[in-house]
Amino acid sequence: AGVVEVDLRPIRLGQNFTVKWRSKPVFIRKRTPNQIAAAKKDDVIAPSMRDPATDAERCKRPEWLICIGVCTHLGCIPQPDAGNYGGYFCPCHGSHYDFAGRMRQGPAPKNLELPPYQFLDDNTVKLG
Ligand code: FES
Repeated sequence: AGVVEVDLRPIRLGQNFTVKWRSKPVFIRKRTPNQIAAAKKDDVIAPSMRDPATDAERCKRPEWLICIGVCTHLGCIPQPDAGNYGGYFCPCHGSHYDFAGRMRQGPAPKNLELPPYQFLDDNTVKLG
C-alpha cells in the first residue's frame, strides 16, 4: 500500500526505528535532545554542505527524523548511530550522514531523501 500509518509510541528515545514503505526502508528516529542540538548546531555551516538544508527543513518536528533509509550513492542501507557525524554510516563506500540525515562526508551526492509524511496526532505519523 502507498500509505502507511505508524504508531510512534513503541519507539524509544534515541532509537532508529525502521518501517517499510513502498518497498523501501524508512527510518523513524526519535531524536534525543543531544542529537537535536548536534544537528541544529551545524545549521550555521549548512550552506557549505553538499546538499544544503537546515535541521528545520529536514524535520517537521524536532523530536522526529523521518527519512528514507537508502544511501543516495548506490542504494545500500546505512547503519544507524554510526559514522563521523553520529547519525548514519553507509559501509558500502563510506558515506557519513548526520542526525538530520544530511550527507556530510563521502561519495553520496544527496541527503537521505524525505518521504511525504504528516503527523495525524502526537503518536501517529502517516507516510505517503
Ligand atoms: Fe552508500 Fe556507496 S552506496 S556509499
